[in-house]
Amino acid sequence: MRVIGMISGTSFDAVEAMLAELELDGDRLMCDLIEHRSVPYPPSVRHAIAGILPPSPTTIEQVCQLDVAIGRFFGDVAQDLADAHGGVDAVCSHGQTVYHWVDGDVARGTLQLGEPAWIAERTGAVVVSDVRNRDIAAGGHGAPLASLLDVLLLGQAPASVCGSLNLGGIANVTVLGPDREPVAFDIGPANALIDAAVEWLSGGEEHFDRGGARAAQGGVDAALVERLLDDPYFALPPPKSTGKEYFNLGYVTRRLEGMEIPAEDLLASLTAATAEMVAAALRPFRLGELLVAGGGTRNHTLMDELRARLPGVKMRRTDELGVPEAGKEALVFAIIGFLTLNGLPATVPSCTGAVRASVLGSVPPGRAPAAALAATGPARPRLAPTRLVLRSPLPSR
Ligand SMILES: Nc1ncnc2c1ncn2[C@@H]1O[C@H](COP(=O)(O)OP(=O)(O)O)[C@@H](O)[C@H]1O
Ligand SMILES: [Mg+2]
Repeated sequence: MRVIGMISGTSFDAVEAMLAELELDGDRLMCDLIEHRSVPYPPSVRHAIAGILPPSPTTIEQVCQLDVAIGRFFGDVAQDLADAHGGVDAVCSHGQTVYHWVDGDVARGTLQLGEPAWIAERTGAVVVSDVRNRDIAAGGHGAPLASLLDVLLLGQAPASVCGSLNLGGIANVTVLGPDREPVAFDIGPANALIDAAVEWLSGGEEHFDRGGARAAQGGVDAALVERLLDDPYFALPPPKSTGKEYFNLGYVTRRLEGMEIPAEDLLASLTAATAEMVAAALRPFRLGELLVAGGGTRNHTLMDELRARLPGVKMRRTDELGVPEAGKEALVFAIIGFLTLNGLPATVPSCTGAVRASVLGSVPPGRAPAAALAATGPARPRLAPTRLVLRSPLPSR
């Protein structure tokens, strides 16, 4: 089955789309990666998303309009990608998270926009969407869903303890090892605070610190770093999840109260604090190896700070395994879409904290009903896959 997985993460910088050919072979999931694209949002859509995110007030009218605008844009991205490769069978769209409702260590709900009907209408393909809520209803966090791919790629119980880290707006990690159940959780901010400060300092003209160049020019203010690390979220045990409702500009400005600090020093301090948050969350696991993905891998200052804080941990980008770091999450959703259409669960309960593994998603029909699609695919599987076989990786960019 040819599936496009799609997501725009909490940084809402671009829609990531991965076209993959997936097939079950016993308990192995055979996967050919065909193409990954990052397509930036049009400025009007990006602006509209920024305008409704907390703590901004919004109206139901704005939410409805944005739901349609995002759905239509995802539809265009999917159709362009499908056209380039002679069509697809299915699309799985995560959409754009606009609110992740967490109460202490319990996730109560989550809202992603990007009306899937527009994607189905544009592409004619069956669309799987709303992929997080079922896990939340089963007592989980609906996150990090990337834990599914981490377990499939690295194995349920690899010979040595390894982690798979994603540095998006939020940092999340999956930890796997020989004598433990896999665990996964949102660590806290990855780029969220750095991006928020850059937006603020540039009056909205810039969205991130390219290459970490501005942070590299500043000095770290130890007192500010200490304040930034002082938050009850970091002490919560996994599973746990968070979002930009919590780690946003307000988080930074509250900790800046009574301080005067030059712009470059602020960025240096935020980058150092972010690296320390991530390193502190990982240290207890005594990792031998850490696989890293997400846009934060392109912030060299952040990566250098992280390496310095995790001596002895062998760090590799997911590109080395054939999965482009920016396309990893989109691949997660291609796999979730494929499993959903085959009636198979797509969560790892020990990672999301749910009481059971769930079949995820809502499936509005494409022009061919989902049931018919599954029937024309490979023989109906009996086994949930335990291993991903990447038959044709994509080159590193
Ligand atoms: N060249 C770069 N230099 C520094 N940071 C970058 C670069 N490219 C991307 N980023 C960071 O990565 C973020 C996007 O990463 P991504 O993995 O797409 O996150 P999300 O899943 O939240 O959208 C950007 O907002 C930015 O902070
Ligand atoms: Mg992104």
